[in-house]
Amino acid sequence: MTLDSIPLATMDLQTADGVRRNSTKICAPVMAETVDQMLTQARKAKELGADLVEIRLDFLKTFNPRQDLEILIKQCPLPTLITYRPIWEGGKYDGDESKRQNALRLAMELGADYIDVELQVAHDFYNAIQGKKPAKIKIIVSSHNYQNTPSLEEIGNLVARILATGADIVKVATTAVDITDSARLFQILVHSQVPMIGIVMGEKGFISRILSAKFGGFLTFGSIEAGLVSAPGQPAVKELLELYNFRQLGPDTKVHGVIGNPIGHSKSPHLYNPAFKSVNFNGIYLPLLVDNVANFLKTYSSHDFVGYSYTIPHKEAGFNCCDEIDPIAKEIGAISCMIKRPDGNLMGYNVDYLGAIAAIEEGLRASNGASQASGSPLTGKLFVVMGAGGAGKALAFGGKEKGARVIVANRTYDKAKQLASKVGGEAITLAELENFHPEDGMILANTTSVGMKPKIESTPLSKEALKHYSLVFDAIYTPKMTRLLREAQESGATIVYGTEMFINQAFVQFEKFTGLPGTMNQQNDQTQEFSPHQVYHLKFLSFSDLSLNFPCSTKATDSGHFGEKYIRNICLVTLIAVGPIFQHYSYCISIPQCSIRCCLLLLYQ
Ligand SMILES: NC(=O)c1ccc[n+]([C@@H]2O[C@H](COP(=O)([O-])OP(=O)(O)OC[C@H]3O[C@@H](n4cnc5c(N)ncnc54)[C@H](OP(=O)(O)O)[C@@H]3O)[C@@H](O)[C@H]2O)c1
Repeated sequence: MTLDSIPLATMDLQTADGVRRNSTKICAPVMAETVDQMLTQARKAKELGADLVEIRLDFLKTFNPRQDLEILIKQCPLPTLITYRPIWEGGKYDGDESKRQNALRLAMELGADYIDVELQVAHDFYNAIQGKKPAKIKIIVSSHNYQNTPSLEEIGNLVARILATGADIVKVATTAVDITDSARLFQILVHSQVPMIGIVMGEKGFISRILSAKFGGFLTFGSIEAGLVSAPGQPAVKELLELYNFRQLGPDTKVHGVIGNPIGHSKSPHLYNPAFKSVNFNGIYLPLLVDNVANFLKTYSSHDFVGYSYTIPHKEAGFNCCDEIDPIAKEIGAISCMIKRPDGNLMGYNVDYLGAIAAIEEGLRASNGASQASGSPLTGKLFVVMGAGGAGKALAFGGKEKGARVIVANRTYDKAKQLASKVGGEAITLAELENFHPEDGMILANTTSVGMKPKIESTPLSKEALKHYSLVFDAIYTPKMTRLLREAQESGATIVYGTEMFINQAFVQFEKFTGLPGTMNQQNDQTQEFSPHQVYHLKFLSFSDLSLNFPCSTKATDSGHFGEKYIRNICLVTLIAVGPIFQHYSYCISIPQCSIRCCLLLLYQ
């Protein structure tokens, strides 16, 4: 089953004040032991922006149906979905079944907007009410599978059985064993002729909760607080609205994400989603917990699933799934970014090296005053790469690409030798590097993990040896100022932070995902007022200093007059960088075209 043939135009996007908004609701489960606590949670849900609340009666410690339902339904500030989930369907209620169904009927009479009736008892329930149901109420007939997600055919049959009960709304919740399970629910959702809730529970089903808005789901559940969930894998309301821009998702939203395992810790969605929003790009970026890359790509083969970042352990698996590969990525043997072209072909890139090499080049240009037009300042330089792992390969191939003379120094000599032979360079051990100074003005790049948190007092090379280098780059970015960089600076070298590599590669990927023109290449009269290095400088300072001493850069004022175009570019990059950590971006993204005011606001907040 693949998603390549789904007609995605089943859902209308309503437009209010020129802002499109889908019709998928956000429902916040309210689970508390007392009625008062439930009402407090419901008020919080409203403040957060939920559309309705699911009142889980089975969580109440004591329950007096008439009195409590009257209060809950009448005093709730949002429309109510009343659920009284029995233990046999994954809930907490363990009492008499007729009492449970009586409470649901009472909720209906007292003006609830929706009630949830489990498929197993739906016929009994409908028989008991004998067609007497207030016009406003909608009955959701639900089925929960806590083991797996059945085949497409089985889900189709299940939906037919639910519809046969007379349900106003169909709810099917299954459990993800693999991320591809959600695709079957999407197929059903998109073809459903009646309002339908389709959720795949669990961490591997996370995308079903977000993309239900794209595929026309009736609602998705969002918790009031992160972690206070009624089912595994549920996002928070705040996350849905602020991070995933849930209201604006639609049939034509392009899906991107970071493919890895584990992936929960990834900050990439916090980087790309605000950036997409800031330029009105109709895309979403999701964490994708993938077990088998080939299966994932085959299942989500539609033209709507278009761009991926790759992280541990899937960089090589991604490489093997590409139809075309960027020559450098081919030499490195791993990709970090994949784009689906309009013809469906998958193109792989390794943008790690682009990020690091661009940062080093800018550092060199800044120190010797060269312009971008005069070619790469790395050409002809002796470029020492410490480490021969993933980052080491990217740096060594990048150095070779720029015409540098590459030396690979690694603790394990064999790996150094292997890599050096591929880049036409020389190999030495880390120990030998201590006394290695064939010439002065060499460039050093550390790609070992020595000096990374928590072992911040370690360093891969002595201060004494550093005096032979004119520029030192450290791929490590936690901490930003490593001992190696501190000592290199004290020895008079130009230093380049690992954060610069990180943000640069993110920036390159952003360009590839959105197709927006790259700021780095924009040259016109305005941009020439402001050297590329200064732009980088602002960009990196704003990113890397923000956890400590934002506002970061008084350098912005030193430069005098900037071209407006550069300001916009800086702002965009700054948005990408600071968005997740600072709230200022919400102000910035409310301005359609990033303006000088917006940029300065960021810089001086
Ligand atoms: N700034 C960025 O955007 C960015 C991107 C990627 C990676 N990085 C950073 O770069 C570093 C390496 O990442 P990676 O993906 O290349 O890792 P990797 O593939 O595991 O390679 C690790 C390298 O470090 C060396 N090493 C490890 N412990 C050592 C020690 N105690 N003494 C000497 N050498 C040691 C290894 O040498 P052996 O071959 O002898 O084991 C190997 O060359 C990490 O700190 C990572 O955070 C930063």
